[in-house]
Amino acid sequence: MFSKHAGLAVVALAIMPPLLLATEIFRRNAGEAFRETQGRYAAIQSYLQEQLSGISLVQMNAREADSNAGFKQLNRSFLDAFLRTIFAYAVFFPVVEFITSATLAAIIYYGGIKLEMGTLTWGLLFAFVQISGRFFRPIRELAERYNVMQTAMASSERIFVLLDNQDEILQVDAPLPVKFEREICFENVSFAYDEGGRSVVNELSGAIPKGRRVAVVGHTGAGKSTLINLLMRFYDVNAGKITVDGVDVRELELLGHRSLFGLVLQDVFVFSGTLEDNIVLGRPRDEQRLASVLEQSQLKDLVGRLPMGLETQVGERGQKLSAGERQLLAFARMLYLEPEVLLLDEATANIDSETEAKIQAVIEHVSHRLTTFTIAHRLSTIKEADEIWVMDQGRIIERGTHGGLMDLDGHYAKLVRLQFEEEEAA
Ligand SMILES: Nc1ncnc2c1ncn2[C@@H]1O[C@H](COP(=O)(O)OP(=O)(O)OP(=O)(O)O)[C@@H](O)[C@H]1O
Ligand SMILES: [Mg+2]
Repeated sequence: MFSKHAGLAVVALAIMPPLLLATEIFRRNAGEAFRETQGRYAAIQSYLQEQLSGISLVQMNAREADSNAGFKQLNRSFLDAFLRTIFAYAVFFPVVEFITSATLAAIIYYGGIKLEMGTLTWGLLFAFVQISGRFFRPIRELAERYNVMQTAMASSERIFVLLDNQDEILQVDAPLPVKFEREICFENVSFAYDEGGRSVVNELSGAIPKGRRVAVVGHTGAGKSTLINLLMRFYDVNAGKITVDGVDVRELELLGHRSLFGLVLQDVFVFSGTLEDNIVLGRPRDEQRLASVLEQSQLKDLVGRLPMGLETQVGERGQKLSAGERQLLAFARMLYLEPEVLLLDEATANIDSETEAKIQAVIEHVSHRLTTFTIAHRLSTIKEADEIWVMDQGRIIERGTHGGLMDLDGHYAKLVRLQFEEEEAA
């Protein structure tokens, strides 16, 4: 354009400053609105997910109208944000269009004067109109692509926030291999979930010797499950340490350490898929082990009753299984892992007494070769433990065998009497 006619080229280039300005204003407004749109869309998704999976609770409490109103509100705010992005576009594109058209007009106007003066030919003016059209087109296309780019930017920002999350539980650079031959120890362990918050475990010490059965009792919120979280290294202690054969768990290989344990919790997580998938959990399939695990976990009857057997689909979060069946499944899954230490947190709470007795027999059986750490509210299940810890507010206030604690006639004895009376009454 400059080689043809410098004056006209300058007029054509005069488009750049207002175009850049418009783009910048658009970028600021639309970028913000885009991020908000994405965020609110995510909020709708998680709201729906939660309300739909809790739909029976919503119906039970006749909360349909509130649930609906909550959705409407989120949807409305999504709409508002979305309209703002649309508005930004609705302003931006005409502005770009206007600027380019105005420039074309300026070229024709300026060219017209030059034509009159005789310093420009018709042909050159016509050529300039064509060329500047080609010059504008990529600019306009760039502005259109901006749309796609903005969406991508807003989305990738959210993805990177997730990817940039730092693991809080880290493995040291040169971790030691895990060896468990003697005992796992809590040494003066203190822990709070929130930094500077209430201490959930207070200077607690205790040992879980290999091959022994340790049980923990105590009231709700005493910190029992927290001990399991600490043992599994889902959290690290704030003070003191947990050791395996004398080595601080923070020095150990994380995966190796965790695979020492087989964990069964009160509420079991079940993946959608088949029963078998949920027992094997991606580990190598071993026919023999699977059979013995089914037998031991009392799951065999259930599998026998199902037309598809182990191939039965359990549904999302295992909703096609009863709570007790899910717990048996958790046992099977844990036994399949062949762990060295069993961690049971209210593991039999949902199972009927008869099945519980069977499971109890299994635990008795496997616990002769395994180490077990059991949390139980039903005290009948832990009478045989080698040591019982009675916890209160993050401390062990009594410890000993069932007999010893009964003789002590303290907190534990009181709990046992209470439960005994309840059972009597029942
Ligand atoms: N993830 C968490 N974040 C913050 N606080 C927590 C968390 N988990 C538990 N707590 C708090 O820690 C305390 C101890 O909880 P914990 O689950 O260890 O109790 P528990 O003895 O297992 O009780 P229960 O018998 O009801 O299972 C509770 O007061 C609880 O509010
Ligand atoms: Mg608990």
